[in-house]
Amino acid sequence: MKDIYILAIETSCDETSCAVVKNGKDVLSNIISSQIETHTLYGGVIPEIASRLHAEKITIVIDEAIKQSGINKSEISAVAFTQGPGLVGALLVGIEAAKAFAFCNDIPIIATHHIAGHIYANNLDNDLEFPLLALVVSGGHTELIYMENHLKFEKIISTADDAIGETFDKVARVLDLPYPGGPHVDKLAKNTDQVVKLNYSFKDDEKFFSYSGLKTAVINYVNNLKMKNMEIPKEEICNTFQNLAIEQVLTHTKRAISQYKVNNLIIAGGVAANSCLRETFSKQLEIKINIPPLKYCTDNAAMIGAVAYYQFIKDQFSNYCVNANSGLKLGDIYG
Ligand code: KG4
Ligand code: ZN
Repeated sequence: MKDIYILAIETSCDETSCAVVKNGKDVLSNIISSQIETHTLYGGVIPEIASRLHAEKITIVIDEAIKQSGINKSEISAVAFTQGPGLVGALLVGIEAAKAFAFCNDIPIIATHHIAGHIYANNLDNDLEFPLLALVVSGGHTELIYMENHLKFEKIISTADDAIGETFDKVARVLDLPYPGGPHVDKLAKNTDQVVKLNYSFKDDEKFFSYSGLKTAVINYVNNLKMKNMEIPKEEICNTFQNLAIEQVLTHTKRAISQYKVNNLIIAGGVAANSCLRETFSKQLEIKINIPPLKYCTDNAAMIGAVAYYQFIKDQFSNYCVNANSGLKLGDIYG
């Protein structure tokens, strides 16, 4: 079969990224222009600023991805992009750039789902082995998904309120740590094995993840100390919070593994970079676990090229009416 080269674009949040991926596997280039420095000034992502920065960077990032890939523009088979979920204005920049590029070069477009991309990041260096369970832990998502085969996604459980990464970021914020907070909480937690007594205990609701109770308990604990002008034991708080956050994903994952009788677990999304999560899961689960290398854990376009390849070989192309959808469901594309 002829080689398939996908030009992939990801602009769902605060990274402007473009990649060229050959046959869904070989990442010929993966350019990521991060906006983190700007958003750090505000303690979180400001959607309007994100869209403007994407618009400034997108053509530069696309040109650089093609240049670094070493292939000629005329060899590109299709352009893939993230249709959602994400920030609508940010998504729109990537979608319109993809449409313009495809139109000018007379090639098809492929709309992908951001979470499918995170899952397929695991197919770049390894092969997904079905049936499998995917734990998606990112800034916007905490989900367990069962996959019987390529592009067959069955959502088992999601969060009733906050996502785990969002909670890491909010805990970091109350502790005056920079955005995004996850890596900082991870780092501080490593320095101690002491815990603090939070007004929270994990109640196992079998139907949902829930992080707002834990988040509120940490915020109240810190505010209480601040009001009394007492020192904030940041390392102990990070350690306590992180243990509880991970206990919850572990409990749900264990149950899903036994219910769905799978032999493979993949972990996807930015929080998959967490060192405690990686260690706890590999110690506590007797199942084969795949986690992408750190560079593919957080948002990047290579993961979009990875999933789009399977859509390409199934002729799952979009037309030019396709629009950004901040609340896009996996079933909307792969249903
Ligand atoms: O997947 P991602 O890049 O973007 C979304 O799609 O949300 O995930 C970003 C999230 C942020 O909330 C960030 O704090 C978190 O991943 N994160 C971490 C770590 N590295 C990134 N959370 C915990 N520990 C880490 N080491
Ligand atoms: Zn993401």
